[in-house]
Amino acid sequence: MLYSQKVLDHFSNPRNVGELADANGIGEVGNAVCGDIMKMYLKIENGIIQDVRFKTFGCGAAIATSSMATELIKGKSIDEALQLSNKAVVAALDGLPPAKIHCSVLAEQAVRAALSDYYRRQGVDPEPIVGKIEEDPHHCESCDTCSH
Ligand code: FES
Repeated sequence: MLYSQKVLDHFSNPRNVGELADANGIGEVGNAVCGDIMKMYLKIENGIIQDVRFKTFGCGAAIATSSMATELIKGKSIDEALQLSNKAVVAALDGLPPAKIHCSVLAEQAVRAALSDYYRRQGVDPEPIVGKIEEDPHHCESCDTCSH
């Protein structure tokens, strides 16, 4: 089987899909490798991610990784969400095929983009806290879909 049961589950039954009308952090990133787009909505209160939604225009792995990323940060602190790496998302999904690893970077960066937006709205420069957002991430570790 190319995909784990967890990937198939999150792809066919993604959690937290949609938009949040009262989001106070919204991030959007695109993937230069494939042109796919992910949008992440966060509702943050007292430093805790109370609610989260996402919209992904992308492949099955992108949908599964965004779904898992929302599950991993929901109810967590901003600091914990900042620690979320694409590797943690992939591990929580019991792995992804190597050519699909770049899709998981989209999920990691979408969370960071939404956190950056949250800080910006508070009048705080997000870069020292969140770091630079890779607007077109392509961390292919052994990706065979591009030449990076
Ligand atoms: Fe585009 Fe997966 S995110 S191929």
